Amino acid sequence: MNHPTDPHKMTQAGTSVGTHAGYMPGFGNDFETEALPGALPQGMNSPQRCNYGLYGEQLSGTAFTANPPERTWCYRIRPSVKHSHRYEKIELPHWKSAPCVDPDVISLGQYRWDAVPHSDEGLTWLTGMRTMTTAGDVNTQVGMASHFYLVTDSMEDDYFFSADSEMLVVPQEGRLRFATELGIIDLEPKEIAILPRGLVYRVEVLEGPARGFVCENYGQKFELPGRGPIGANCMANPRDFKAPVAAFEDREVPSTVTVKWCGQFHTTKIGQSPLDVVAWHGNYAPYKYDLRTYCPVGAILFDHPDPSIFTVLTAPSGQPGTANIDFVLFRERWMVAEDTFRPPWYHKNIMSELMGNIYGQYDAKPQGFVPGGMSLHNMMLPHGPDREAFEKASNANLGPDKLDNTMSFMFETRFPQHLTPFAANEAPLQDDYIDCWTSLEKKFDGTPGKK
Ligand SMILES: [Fe+2]
Repeated sequence: MNHPTDPHKMTQAGTSVGTHAGYMPGFGNDFETEALPGALPQGMNSPQRCNYGLYGEQLSGTAFTANPPERTWCYRIRPSVKHSHRYEKIELPHWKSAPCVDPDVISLGQYRWDAVPHSDEGLTWLTGMRTMTTAGDVNTQVGMASHFYLVTDSMEDDYFFSADSEMLVVPQEGRLRFATELGIIDLEPKEIAILPRGLVYRVEVLEGPARGFVCENYGQKFELPGRGPIGANCMANPRDFKAPVAAFEDREVPSTVTVKWCGQFHTTKIGQSPLDVVAWHGNYAPYKYDLRTYCPVGAILFDHPDPSIFTVLTAPSGQPGTANIDFVLFRERWMVAEDTFRPPWYHKNIMSELMGNIYGQYDAKPQGFVPGGMSLHNMMLPHGPDREAFEKASNANLGPDKLDNTMSFMFETRFPQHLTPFAANEAPLQDDYIDCWTSLEKKFDGTPGKK
């Protein structure tokens, strides 16, 4: 039916930002968002006077001349120089940075750990970080660290930023809120969050205790991998990444900001919350991603591709095709390949592979690799299915088979990973892990045709 005065009357979406309240969809988009109407200057970045008496400030995540540059313009109650005063060094003894090579710790080996248990100790995002491995060098901005986090307590008037790293957070248990300068991210298992270098935030416990994994990326930012011949769809799709809308607080209370800088921690005392960005625009922002939206691509006739086919995000190094870090997801999927050994094959790899189990059972290790657990197959050290997995896969009737109730991931880096003293001595290391291959038997006796 035509409207008498407006024959082309259209029904318009109520918001401009998609379907998830509080978040804006897209990977690396140039977003704009304001928590108060008119707070964001239009058509320019630096008006002579900003609306509401706000201060304009740029946060640069790349060199100015990078292509593309990544930066965000913030319009805030106070400029960041007011959220930074004299610094005092503090110790967070369980949070290590590369290089961290302890002469008494052997990193050469295949290692596996149970989930680090919670204790009675109240722990925040800062005090509950437990570094397991480090790789590369934080001072030259290459490599990474892997951590468990154990969090029971919210940060109260305490804030944090890492000048060293981008943080990839993989929850395994509990729910956390990351209240950041650029908005609020609520995070639960089966989701991940990325917190860019330099972003100030506080972590609240929505449902505790919370446990999970962190990959601290010292190098270039994570980006979506090129899909090559796969084309424009599947794997991680840009629309499934969500950046928060602007949120701020005008909170005048004594507060502390802790800074991680070149592997050391310092605090500074200020008189207000630094989460005072009322509006922002730009492409340097935190985001979250629901791992259930990852669309796996794999073998549909025989053999199977390298695990790089399951890369969610990749942090490049200066060498094309050789990542500083790949974040790889092993999730539910169908196995249909004919006449094929379907689990991961036996291999040695120049990259070092750190895995974590979010839930369920991993196909190459039916036992022992438990939810919340971690394993490390370091540079050039052999690994593969244990005997149970080998025998089962070698003798299975190969119809279509669904790998269900499984979600594990890998932080894979071009650098060898060094165990921290905590990983070697305090975390629940499975001393018998190396024995999982002991019972693999010699089948060869020179008889042709034997299988
Ligand atoms: Fe491997």
